Amino acid sequence: MENKAALGVFDSGVGGLTVLREIMKRDHYERIIYLGDTGRVPYGTRSADKIKEYAEDDISFLLSQGAEKVIAACGTVSAVALDTLRKSHPDIPIDGVIDATVAGAARATRNGKIGVIGTAATVRSGVYQRRLGESFDVTVTACPLFVPLAEYGFACEERGRATVFDACEYYLSPLKAAGIDTLVMGCTHFPLLEDFFEEYFDGGVALINSGRELAATIEKGTCIAPSLELFVTDDTKAFSEVAKAFSGCYDLPRPKRVRIQ
Ligand code: DGL
Repeated sequence: MENKAALGVFDSGVGGLTVLREIMKRDHYERIIYLGDTGRVPYGTRSADKIKEYAEDDISFLLSQGAEKVIAACGTVSAVALDTLRKSHPDIPIDGVIDATVAGAARATRNGKIGVIGTAATVRSGVYQRRLGESFDVTVTACPLFVPLAEYGFACEERGRATVFDACEYYLSPLKAAGIDTLVMGCTHFPLLEDFFEEYFDGGVALINSGRELAATIEKGTCIAPSLELFVTDDTKAFSEVAKAFSGCYDLPRPKRVRIQ
């Protein structure tokens, strides 16, 4: 197993699993290594320098485990650190989620009004404003609270639901008022709250999921049952519980706790 070429996938926590579950359906890698940097989540409230430093640690760990291609399954890292990572690892293909997500939103909108929600760092990077703003009417909102709500399983618990709805009202009402018909979930944690967004907008917006968009750009591989290894940098129990609730049809292995700094 160890000598098989691996695909490395990383995020600050559980969010990247929303990408993982989509790419597992398509990529041809027989071995996939996922790292959730749960000891340092969230990334999106931090400075660009910190995010780059964390992402370098993540990639170094994945390379040490044999990754020969890496996917930053994190909107924040993709928006803030991808160029830096590609420069410091020129021999490794490193993919992010922005290109596919932008293309998906452009394809989906009918009225040209696109809402983008992401972390503060993603919004500050201006990437969606630049990439979509020339052709579309774009309203961008930072929604930092959605990250812990997803990471700590509020959406999985009946008693957490009201809190998630309050946060939806708080963050999404300007987007509703702007008349958007397409909502970019610009943080990979956000698809864990997808049902709430769907309900908040009464099914009236197309929800753009980065993982799904990215997976659609990958040529369908032949490996249908890749071996999967999960690593986290803090408590594995919380991660496992949320991961289990959202893993869909996959039987996720137990994550191993590792040090990456
Ligand atoms: N899931 C990440 C993203 O896509 C990171 C969220 C966070 O750690 O703040 O932006």
